[in-house]
Amino acid sequence: MAHIAHNPDARPDYKTTVELGAVLPQTAEVRDGHLYIGGLDTVALAQEYGTALYVMDETHIRTQLRNFLEWTRYHWKDVDVAFAGKAFLCRAMCQLVAEEGCYLDVASGGELACALAAGFPPEHILAHGNNKTIRELTEAIDAGVGRIVVDSFEELARVNALATERAQSQAVLIRVTPGIVADTHAYIQTGGEDSKFGFGLANGLALRAITEALELDGIELVGLHMHIGSQIFALNSYAKAIEVIVHFMDTVRTETGFTVAELDTGGGLGIAYGVPDEPATIKQFGKVIVDDIKEHCEQHGLPVPHIIVEPGRSVAANAGVTLYTVGTIKRIPEVRTYVAVDGGMTDNIRTALYDAHYEAVIANRADAPRDSIVTVAGKHCESGDIVLIDAPIQTPVLGDVLCVFGTGAYCQSMASNYNKQVRPAVVFVRDGAARLVVRRETYEDLMRCDVG
Ligand SMILES: Cc1ncc(COP(=O)(O)O)c(C=O)c1O
Repeated sequence: MAHIAHNPDARPDYKTTVELGAVLPQTAEVRDGHLYIGGLDTVALAQEYGTALYVMDETHIRTQLRNFLEWTRYHWKDVDVAFAGKAFLCRAMCQLVAEEGCYLDVASGGELACALAAGFPPEHILAHGNNKTIRELTEAIDAGVGRIVVDSFEELARVNALATERAQSQAVLIRVTPGIVADTHAYIQTGGEDSKFGFGLANGLALRAITEALELDGIELVGLHMHIGSQIFALNSYAKAIEVIVHFMDTVRTETGFTVAELDTGGGLGIAYGVPDEPATIKQFGKVIVDDIKEHCEQHGLPVPHIIVEPGRSVAANAGVTLYTVGTIKRIPEVRTYVAVDGGMTDNIRTALYDAHYEAVIANRADAPRDSIVTVAGKHCESGDIVLIDAPIQTPVLGDVLCVFGTGAYCQSMASNYNKQVRPAVVFVRDGAARLVVRRETYEDLMRCDVG
């Protein structure tokens, strides 16, 4: 059996819900002891839609997207914000992103199909992935996506062949790895030289890719893309990467005569999962990204390119919560108290995958202090099926609605059917109204692909 490390610093923190600050969805409030989001009682939502349930604060998502647009364009008008669909995607989310005037980054044929089904304008879609299949490339080109972000020499040749067959030229960005190791979990660092993503700058592969791209009739090279990692708190990681990439843009111009017209700096801005977390603000992020690009371009005598940023987590994570029902409470003397809920690693794999940390409250006693330390376990057949380790919550009682915060990104999109668990519904809440945007799966859904 796996050993779950104790957190020796774990103490009841006696905070009530409202004291959790930036961890909460922006419209979270406590009324008559219940947690409300979007003007709605989460306990009533749990009753109506069942648990486990993802609840997304629509106002929060829209505000984040607007903040990204405002605080990047504040420094340079020619900026677009592409929501990274891998963080959270369904048709309603695509529509919301389009309504806010943002672009969309997709990382698979499935994400592209979802965007197209939602009526998302294809010219505002960027297609990502380090090993897009021929089918995915064909679908992207036939849909007319705005950009394919090319990740390998093989892909450059494939895009060229597909576009040439159609007597077209496909607009592409070349993904480069600036050699900056962002200060974050190793699994979500992507900008170092040793990465499965993109072309390295230092080893000359990026320059070679650009030189090749410029020679291909089916390729319209527009610019460069980088993404240095996720859950980044230190904005100087971006500053360093931008310095390196703009220097490279100068080299590209000298060596090939090509002027980079578009620079996509990826996503990665960190968020507060825990009360002590103090991520940079969107305003600070916008200033570092855009001002630094402008400044370095001026130094190198380069025109400032069209800039794209691709936030995912920082748009959706704190907008979302997961509601569970407490099913069993196992108090193991001198070991720990396990509170088991009706979900777990199937709706939130991040604790098992990255040792992620979350804050939680009992939604039906949200004004009470968090006076117990518990480990919240899922219902699946793995000892590592844990949502929270040694975390403060209000003393739990069977049947309580447990609300875990910060689950709006990389939870639903990473959900699985392990143990043939049906995946939860997603409800968007706003101004006192709820709309079901993804229904809970049924047992029939679990077998819909079984043909034997
Ligand atoms: C290419 C690319 N862009 C954007 C993102 C979004 O990152 P985040 O959710 O950390 O903002 C990712 C995440 O992995 C990514 O791979």
